[in-house]
Amino acid sequence: MCRWLPVKNGSSVDAGGEPGEHQRVIAPRRFSRLRIAAFAVIERLAVLLGGRALNRWRNLSRGRLRLREEWVEVPGLPAALEGFCVVHLSDLHAGPFLGAGDLSEVRRLVGELAPDVVCWTGDFVVHGIHNVAPMHEELSGLVGARGTFAVFGNHDYLHREEWRLVEAMEPAGWRFLRNTGAVVEVGAARVGFCGIEDPEEGKVVDVEGAIGALRSRGGLPDLIVALSHGPQAAPEFAARGAHLVLSGHSHGTQVDLPFLRDLGPSHPGMRVNLGAATLLVSRGLGVIGAPIRVGAPAEVVAVRFRPARAPGGR
Ligand SMILES: [Fe+2]
Ligand SMILES: [Fe+2]
Repeated sequence: MCRWLPVKNGSSVDAGGEPGEHQRVIAPRRFSRLRIAAFAVIERLAVLLGGRALNRWRNLSRGRLRLREEWVEVPGLPAALEGFCVVHLSDLHAGPFLGAGDLSEVRRLVGELAPDVVCWTGDFVVHGIHNVAPMHEELSGLVGARGTFAVFGNHDYLHREEWRLVEAMEPAGWRFLRNTGAVVEVGAARVGFCGIEDPEEGKVVDVEGAIGALRSRGGLPDLIVALSHGPQAAPEFAARGAHLVLSGHSHGTQVDLPFLRDLGPSHPGMRVNLGAATLLVSRGLGVIGAPIRVGAPAEVVAVRFRPARAPGGR
């Protein structure tokens, strides 16, 4: 059994024997009614006070939206994959504070980066998948030259209508990785992308199934990138051969102040060395509750790869 990163307010649960040997069901995180009501009041007030315009200017405009660049070293990386670029986007949270027309700077940055692949790690919406419907066309422009892959986050399962986003975005070339994977060929080299359902929302989570979908007669791909909205599954992905795990969910705590940090999801850090893999956690693009970010700027993450300098080095 592999180690999982700790989940605050959640724990592994027995799903009555339904999940398979390598599958998990994690108890969804649930807030008290009082806390949900308090968030609703704050959100409505913020909307009335022009929260969306504030968010667009304060967090998503030129000079404020952050471009974060990361290099990941992989032992034995084929020369064809040196400099291979993955843009990681997360936690869009379309809804009261973000909508159509608000991603112009994101689109400009991604266009300049011209990534091979774009990866989305969930939480596209705040209150329901209908929130993102006006943004389908805008999102269709945020794609990689060799592929666009996505997983869902806990918010996306509200009302169980995530299929609507799948139907809207697959014609634009997006592929949703729901306990499965896909391989991108770069010359003779192969890059595997795999993803799981969100570990917090009672969905069956199958890391082995996701990695297993990448296996062929030649074995696993030269480079494996795993997508998981929550970072808890990262150690298991590392143990099963992933070189990089991309996650979101915590928004970098969104308001990174000592007395408020513990209100949000547990946050393992922006970059975590797992020995066999690197975990990168995005601060995301959107906000929850109020259009405020402190010490946790919205960001586009650009990841590039190079060979490890020493065997096993990261
Ligand atoms: Fe989120
Ligand atoms: Fe989330």
